[in-house]
Amino acid sequence: MDVPVVARTRAELQDALAEGEAESSVVMTMGALHDGHAALIRHARALVGDTGHVIVTIFVNPLQFAEGEDFDRYPRAFENDLNICAAEGVDLVFAPTRAEMYPGGDARVTVDPGPLGRELEGAARPTHFAGVLTVVAKLLNLTVPAYAVFGEKDYQQLTLVRRMADDLEMPYEIVGAPTVREADGLALSSRNRYLSADERAIAAALSEALAKGAEAGHLGREAVLRDAVAVLERHTELLVDYLVLRTPDLASDAASGESRLLVAARIGSTRLLDNIAVDLGRATSG
Ligand code: PAJ
Repeated sequence: MDVPVVARTRAELQDALAEGEAESSVVMTMGALHDGHAALIRHARALVGDTGHVIVTIFVNPLQFAEGEDFDRYPRAFENDLNICAAEGVDLVFAPTRAEMYPGGDARVTVDPGPLGRELEGAARPTHFAGVLTVVAKLLNLTVPAYAVFGEKDYQQLTLVRRMADDLEMPYEIVGAPTVREADGLALSSRNRYLSADERAIAAALSEALAKGAEAGHLGREAVLRDAVAVLERHTELLVDYLVLRTPDLASDAASGESRLLVAARIGSTRLLDNIAVDLGRATSG
C-alpha cells in the first residue's frame, strides 16, 4: 500500500503537483474521514483512472464556523485520516495549517454565495456558505483539478459550489456523489459522534421521514410533505428547523418532476441534515 504524499504548505503542494501532468480530481474534507468520504475518494479515482491523480484536502476551515459553533470540538484525527487515504490509494494529501490558508489572519476578499446562501442552512448559519465557498475557491485554485467531487449529503453546499463555478467561470468540473448511509438509513457524518446512544436511535427518523416522503412522490407535493412530517412528528425530541421540497437547483418550490426533499433538525445540541431525490408525479391541478 503506497502512502500518499503529504503537503503541509502551498510550496510543498506546488512541488507535488509539478511532478506530473496527469489529470487530477480533488475531494475536499474537514478530516475525521468516514465511509462517506471514502466513497467520494473512489468516485474521484473512477473519474481519472489509474493513471490520474487523486488529491484529498484536509482542513477544518474556521471561516465557515460562526462564534459559538463547534470549531474547537470538531473531531480531528489526522493519523487515522492518512491511513484511510492510503488504503483508498490517494496520491496526495494537502493538510495546511490555518496560517498557511489565511496568511493575512482573517480572509479579506470572500465569495458572496448570493440569495441561496441566505436560505435553509444559510438562514440558521448566516456566514457559513461565504466561508465554505471562499475556502473551496482557494482549494480549487491551489490544487487546479479537472474534477472536484462533493457529496449530495450536503446538497445545498454542492448546489452552491456548482453555482459558484458556473457564475465565476471556474474551469473545474463539479461532480456530485450519492449519500452513504448507516444500515438504519442515518447519513454518515463526522458530527454523528456527538450523539448519545438515545439520540443516535432517534436520528434515524430523519432518513426514514425522507424515504416515506419520496415513496409518496407519485401522489404529488402535498402527500410527500405530509408523509415526511408524519414520521418526524412521532419524535418530539427532534426539533425540525426546515423540511422543504424544492427543484433540484433549490431555486424554488417543486410542483412536479424531479425534485429534492431536504430536512434539518436538532437533537439535543447536534444539528443534522439530510436530503433525498423525489420524483413528483404529474400535478393534478393547475
Ligand atoms: P466535510 O463535512 O468533511 O465533508 C467533505 C465532503 O464529504 C463533502 O463533499 C460532503 O458532502 C461529503 N460527505 C459527508 N458525508 C457524506 C456521506 N454520508 N455520503 C457522501 N458524502 C458525504 O463539507 C465539508 O467537509 C466542508 O464544508 C468543505 C467542503 C471541505 C469546505 O470546508
